Amino acid sequence: MSTNFARRLSSVQPSATLAISQRAAELRAQGVDVISFGVGEPDFETPLHIREAAKAATDKGSSHYTAVRGMPKLRDAICLDSKKRRGGQTHSPAEVVVSVGAKHALFNLALALYDEGDEVIIPAPYWVSYPEQVRLVGAVPVIVETSDESGFRMTPEALEKAITKKTRALILCTPSNPTGSAYSAKELEALAEVARRHNFWIITDEIYAQLVYGGFEQKSILEVAPDLRERIIIVDGVSKTYAMTGWRIGWILGPKAVATACDTIQGQSTTNPTAVAQFAAIAALEGPTTELVGMRKTFDERRHAMVEGLRSECGFSCRMPEGAFYAFPSVKSLIGKKAGDVVLSDDIAVAKYLLETGRVAVVPGTPFGAPGYVRLSYATNVTLIREGISRIREATAALR
Ligand SMILES: Cc1ncc(COP(=O)(O)O)c(C=O)c1O
Repeated sequence: MSTNFARRLSSVQPSATLAISQRAAELRAQGVDVISFGVGEPDFETPLHIREAAKAATDKGSSHYTAVRGMPKLRDAICLDSKKRRGGQTHSPAEVVVSVGAKHALFNLALALYDEGDEVIIPAPYWVSYPEQVRLVGAVPVIVETSDESGFRMTPEALEKAITKKTRALILCTPSNPTGSAYSAKELEALAEVARRHNFWIITDEIYAQLVYGGFEQKSILEVAPDLRERIIIVDGVSKTYAMTGWRIGWILGPKAVATACDTIQGQSTTNPTAVAQFAAIAALEGPTTELVGMRKTFDERRHAMVEGLRSECGFSCRMPEGAFYAFPSVKSLIGKKAGDVVLSDDIAVAKYLLETGRVAVVPGTPFGAPGYVRLSYATNVTLIREGISRIREATAALR
C-alpha cells in the first residue's frame, strides 16, 4: 500500500482558527470553563421564518438535484438583493453560481482562474483560507503588508508595487476578517485606478458587507469602478448576515464566462448545494429584515463593549473596526514578558497563555499574516465579553 500523498498537500496549512476552537473544546470537555472569542460565526439562531421555509421545502419533497449553479429562483433573489445593495449594479442569473458556502465559491475561483506559478495579491492581515487555497492550486500568494496606522487597508502604492507580469488576481475583503476594517469609496477608487492600468481579476469578498456599524457607508469596488465590471467577481453569502453558517450557502456574482467556468468545476465536484438550504437562502433574501437589523444593533453594542474593554481594562491598542464581528488588538506589549519561567515569545504564545491561564480563547495573528496581534470575535453576549475582558486583564497583570 502506498503511503504517499499528493505534493500539493505539503504546501497547505490546516486551519489555525479551527485549532484554537478544538483546544478550547478539549478544555471544556475536561470541565474548564473557557470563554471563547475564537469563533467566526454569529451566536444567534437562524431567524424563524428561514427555518420554517426550509421545513416547508422538506415537507414538499425538495429532495432532488437542482441546477448545479443553484435554483433559478435563488439566483434571481441574489441578483435582486445585490442590485439593491450595490448602487443599482446589475447581474443576470447566468452570472451567478451558488456554492456550498463562500469558501467553496472562492475555491472554485482558485481552480478556475489560477495556473501554476500565477501570482495572487492578498493584503495582510488576511483571512486564513485565501493563501492556502492559492497554494493548493499551485499558484503563489503575494502578501502585501498593511499597517495599523493605515487601518489595515492596502494603499494604492503598495498594490502597484506588488503587481508583476505574473499577477493574475487581487483578493480584497471588505469588511475584513480578521481586522474588521472596511475600505471607503475613496480608498476603493484609488485601488481601482491602479487596477485599471493592469489586467488582473479583482475578487471582492463582501461576506460581511451587511455587518457595518456607526454609520459607515459600505461600498463595493464594483460600484465605484463599474468600468472594471468584466474583471470584478463578488463573493457573498448568507452565512454571516443571517446567522446561517451551517447551512452552507455562498455565491459569486461575476462575468458570465467566470460563472460558466465555476459551474463546470462545481458540476464535476459537489454538484448543487443542498436543495433545502437553497430554499432557506431564498427566504433569507426575500424575507423581513427585522432580525438582521436587530442582530446588527446587538453586534454594534458588543463591538463597543469589546474594543473599549480591551483598551481601558487591558491597556491594549485596538482600532475600532468598521464592520464584521472581530476586534484585532496589538499584543506587542506582552511579547517578551514572562509567565513564571516561560517567556511569551510571540502572539501564538500569548494566545496559548490566555487560553491555558486566563481561560479565554483568542486566535493568534500570525496565521492571518499579522504577528503581534490577536483576533477576538465579539459574536457572543456582552456579559461574557465583560467577563472575558476581566480574565484577560487578570492574566496579563500576572505577567512579569
Ligand atoms: C472573509 C471570509 N470569507 C469567506 C468565509 C466563508 O464563508 P462560508 O461560511 O459561507 O463558507 C468566511 C468565514 O469565516 C470569511 O470570514
